[in-house]
Amino acid sequence: MPEIDELIAAVDGDRADLGTEQFVVAKSEDARILGCGRLRPYPEFCEIASMAVAEDVRANGIGRAIVSRLLEQYSGTIYLICEDEVVEFFRRFDFRLLPASDVPDGLDTKWDYFRSLAGSMNLMTRG
Ligand SMILES: CC(C)(COP(=O)(O)OP(=O)(O)OC[C@H]1O[C@@H](n2cnc3c(N)ncnc32)[C@H](O)[C@@H]1OP(=O)(O)O)[C@@H](O)C(=O)NCCC(=O)NCCS
Repeated sequence: MPEIDELIAAVDGDRADLGTEQFVVAKSEDARILGCGRLRPYPEFCEIASMAVAEDVRANGIGRAIVSRLLEQYSGTIYLICEDEVVEFFRRFDFRLLPASDVPDGLDTKWDYFRSLAGSMNLMTRG
């Protein structure tokens, strides 16, 4: 977990309530954690959160592999909150943008927090 926490911290990601059982990670042959992402469960949906790939290994398909694995684990409605630069990345997995007024109960506190930090944020959903 310290390695995962460090990766997420490096992208100013969501480090709240990190539970090992929620994560999919990518590891190198020498056991370095190259990337991570998790499915956080809520009563009526899941959220993809805490996606981070180490900067020196980005654009090699690691992020895509992690999202594919997470999507295999849950077929219900999924939400995520992301910055503008990664909207196109998630569109490839059939996520679509939603207006801020559609933030579901449970995600509103996180939405307000990250939007106040970054200025602009995007809410996306799938399913
Ligand atoms: C988003 C992120 C996890 C993607 O990881 P990755 O391993 O680089 O992604 P992949 O290599 O699988 O990318 C797949 C495609 O998306 C594109 N892409 C990925 N991140 C991108 C970005 N930030 N801007 C533009 N394009 C991006 C890649 O170029 C690649 O396109 P290609 O297949 O045409 O070459 C990584 O950029 C990251 O850690 N970003 C910071 C944290 C973040 O924004 N997390 C999401 C919020 S939950």
